[in-house]
This record gives sequence, C-alpha cells and structure tokens, in this order.
Amino acid sequence: MADTDNKPKKITEENLPLEREFIVTQPFTTTSEGVKAIKEENKFQKILTAKYSKQILNGKIVSTSGKKPDIENYVIELEDVKKSYITGDVDTPVLKGINLQLRKGDFIVILGPSGSGKTTLLNIISGLDKVSSGDVFVLGNNLSLLKDSHLTKFRRENVGFIFQQYNLLTNLTAKENAEVGENLSRNKNKDLTINDIFETIGMKEQMNKYPHQMSGGQQQRVSIARALAKNPNILFGDEPTGALDEEMGRKVLEILVDVNKKYKTTVIVVTHNPNIALIANTVIHVRNGLIDEIKNNTNPKKPSEIDWS
Ligand SMILES: Nc1ncnc2c1ncn2[C@@H]1O[C@H](COP(=O)(O)OP(=O)(O)OP(=O)(O)O)[C@@H](O)[C@H]1O
Ligand SMILES: [Mg+2]
Repeated sequence: MADTDNKPKKITEENLPLEREFIVTQPFTTTSEGVKAIKEENKFQKILTAKYSKQILNGKIVSTSGKKPDIENYVIELEDVKKSYITGDVDTPVLKGINLQLRKGDFIVILGPSGSGKTTLLNIISGLDKVSSGDVFVLGNNLSLLKDSHLTKFRRENVGFIFQQYNLLTNLTAKENAEVGENLSRNKNKDLTINDIFETIGMKEQMNKYPHQMSGGQQQRVSIARALAKNPNILFGDEPTGALDEEMGRKVLEILVDVNKKYKTTVIVVTHNPNIALIANTVIHVRNGLIDEIKNNTNPKKPSEIDWS
C-alpha cells in the first residue's frame, strides 16, 4: 500500500535529473550526552523522516549536514555517517564518522578485518540498514531520511544484492529464480533479457536446473543473474565468493568484472581478502569503524591473475 502512494520514476543514468531542489534541514542540537543524546538524535531523525521521505523519493535532495551531493560525478556520497547499537545504557559505536564519495561505474572493494564494520557499511549504503546520524546520498536520495517502505521501494528499483549464501528458491529453476528478480522490479528492462544474462554468466546450459542440481559457484552465478535481471544501477556483494572454492570464486569475480564493464553497473564488493581487492579500481580500507585509507588502482588485475590463498 505504502508502495503505491507515489510513483517516482526509476532513476537511471539517462534520466538522472541534475537540477533537483536542494533542501537543508534544521540542525540537531542537544545539551544531553551519551546514550541520551543518541536517543534524542534518533527521535529527531524520525521527525525529519516523516517530513521529507516522500519528497526525497520524488527527487528532492535533502541534507541534514548542509553537504550538497555532486550527483553528476558520484553515485554514493556519505557525510559524517555514524552507526551505534544501544543496549540498555551502553552505546556501542560501530561506524564512527564515515565520509565517502564513490564514482559512477567504478568497481569498488571494501576491505578490512573481521568486525571492522564492512557489512554494516555495505548495509547502510545499500539501504538495508539505517544510520544513527549523517547523510547517505545514493543517486541523490538521502537514505538516512527514508522511511522503511520507501527504502524498500528504493532498493527494489535501484540496487541488486549478492550474498555469501545464495538464497535461491529451491523449488524454482535457475531461470525462474532469475525471473524473480525481474518481476520484483517495477521497471522491467527491455534490452537485457534473461537469456542475455545467462549468456553473460556462462550458464545458458544450466537454465532449467534446480539449485540442488548445481554447484555452489553455479548457484552464486544464478544469484548474480537474479540481481542483474532488474538492471540495477548498483550491484552489492557481501563476501560473494566467501563460500566458494578457488575455481568458482574466480569465475564469479570474472562475471562481476564483466558486468561492471559491459553494463557500466557500479559494483561494490565487501571482502576480508586483500588479494580480491587487487581487481578493483577503488579500494576502501575499513578499520575499527573508520575509513583508514582509500586507494585508487589505475591498473586492476584480472581475477585470473590474483593469488587465491
Ligand atoms: N545488531 C548488532 N548489535 C550489536 N553490535 C553489532 C550488531 N551488528 C554488528 N555489530 C558489531 O558491529 C561490529 C561490526 O560488524 P560488521 O558485521 O559490520 O563487521 P564486518 O567487518 O562485516 O566483519 P566480518 O568480516 O566478520 O563479516 C562488530 O563488532 C559487531 O559485533
Ligand atoms: Mg561482514
């Protein structure tokens, strides 16, 4: 129901409106400290969300920080993003003030040790999770002020996901699983057919197989097909090769590189494996909830060239 209360067009590279109304919200101020201040800020964010969520989906750029995103050049921009978990009176900060600009069409790897905040960061920039404070602009939409139903709509229309566990529907064939992705998206892409996608992932022969008849790598490729079927602007993967052996892992990375080149899809992959980072144009090093370093790689390696150990 909430999904039909307004009908914004899917934002694509072609129709990305460059002249969008820019609004800066009232700033949050408090004299409280610690968990109390965080709770007050949360409340304030809810008020802003109620006020601006619909306007954001309709194309307005709303900033809580005063930062105006450069939507012509960057697909994702984060401004002072913080995320804490509160249990009782204890505040556990997980992201501690992240600033980030990611270019359209890049192949980006988020690298860092276990517990550093990689998944939390990915979930925030892909609209699966909400920040405690800060602005998360994705295609100009400030996700930190979208209400849940609008976030769902945003995800459905703009982003694709690949997880470590492939999450395929067991009673559907490979082709039918991919079609689920297509059907979930309001704007069916006419140019990119399921057949083309299976060609790209090298699985034309396997289209009618069920998940239990496929290897892990093949199932992961079907999950990529499912994500691609809606022609997402951005493709996210959290340890997409984590459950695969070397051969299948390389194959999956090759497909992600192909997709990035062929469809100009921005690809963002989380990994703890520094070798995988060598295939990216941009590597974000996360450490202890902060960005340690961002490296641009002018000469990325091919997945076949990296060490796997
Ligand atoms: N729901 C939660 N409640 C409390 N703390 C959490 C919650 N989710 C994550 N954390 C904490 O946030 C920190 C970052 O977690 P995150 O999952 O983002 O790390 P990661 O870098 O993806 O690690 P890994 O490589 O092991 O997947 C961890 O210390 C984790 O314990
Ligand atoms: Mg993780």
